[in-house]
Amino acid sequence: MTPPHAGSRSNGQATSRGSEADGEPTIDVRLDAREWQEARDAEVRRGLSADQPWLSPVWFYDEHGSDLFDEITRLPEYYQTRAERRLLEDHAPELAEHGVVTMVELGSGTSDKTEVILDALVESGRLRTYVPFDVSEATLRQAIDRLRVRYPGLRFHGVVGDFHRHLGAIPEGGPRLVAFLGGTIGNLRPAERKRFLFDLDCALERQDLVLIGIDLVKEPARIVSAYDDSRGVTAAFNRNALTVLDRELHADLDPDDFEHVARWNEDERWIEMRLRARRPVHASVADLDLTIDLRPGEDLLTEISAKFSPEGFAAELWESGFEEVETWVSEGEEFGLVLARPYC
Ligand code: SAH
Ligand code: AVI
Repeated sequence: MTPPHAGSRSNGQATSRGSEADGEPTIDVRLDAREWQEARDAEVRRGLSADQPWLSPVWFYDEHGSDLFDEITRLPEYYQTRAERRLLEDHAPELAEHGVVTMVELGSGTSDKTEVILDALVESGRLRTYVPFDVSEATLRQAIDRLRVRYPGLRFHGVVGDFHRHLGAIPEGGPRLVAFLGGTIGNLRPAERKRFLFDLDCALERQDLVLIGIDLVKEPARIVSAYDDSRGVTAAFNRNALTVLDRELHADLDPDDFEHVARWNEDERWIEMRLRARRPVHASVADLDLTIDLRPGEDLLTEISAKFSPEGFAAELWESGFEEVETWVSEGEEFGLVLARPYC
């Protein structure tokens, strides 16, 4: 599974290398391999044994999955990344007015769009440190290697961690701007999202800010095509979860036995990505001593991607301790960027 792609560690200690004083990036590895494996095993067991079997979306993001996601962001159907980038380009100068000293990015991935924000914050003369935070160590390291060249005066403090468990690893040094881009918040279930926002509020101070990208509710056909593209990249991304499961847990699921499904759930206002059995599936997950039996047409739920209204999301933020500062909405009301701060 994701974190151990590169350099898993089993001593149970957070690992830091480099020092900010010598100009080398610090990498704070909060994912302990054994703890991660236990949590992951328990979750897979729970998910695959449920009446509606499910897998966590974190299984998508091995190195190949991260590359596929990167490809998704450039697809003509996947409007989210372009819309969010445009919003960032339009509003980064306003972000720079907040005197940000530390920029943190949760689920930072390749940190591609981040450059738009970093350009403006570096230009403001206040920014000292960029903190990418991701479960995927390999992707995080590649991002830091690229950004160090572009921003030689900046300190880099990467956190290899789970944003559900390791928000305490966010370093001091305010005012901090915590960005959570790409609409990744929509991949959290409502209860999980509430808990996450509450924990984030607890980890921050009044002077800090959060910047959250939300995909907006719109014509379902447009959303569905973003998750079922004509080139089949999203289908490959979805099936990759099985390849990762096979490799990491010695399972024998054949990705070709499954059809990629993207379905709009009108009641929940989210997209569901599923893997539907094309034929009878009898597979095992050797490391968990678990078998999976599916009849043709039965499926595994691999991801939800919730869509929001700006008003609804501002209300959720308020319930979790944040007040909205600004909400920027893209042309055609496709995507929103919400800037908020803890109100106490
Ligand atoms: N922010 C980027 C990438 C989004 S893809 C963008 O807007 O394009 C989602 C990213 O979140 C991936 O890099 C994945 O590895 C990371 N991720 C998923 N679950 C995570 C978790 N629980 N903790 C930390 N990172 C996570
Ligand atoms: C990372 N996340 C916001 C993406 C999304 O749109 O929910 C993941 C993704 N799944 C399919 N395509 C992209």
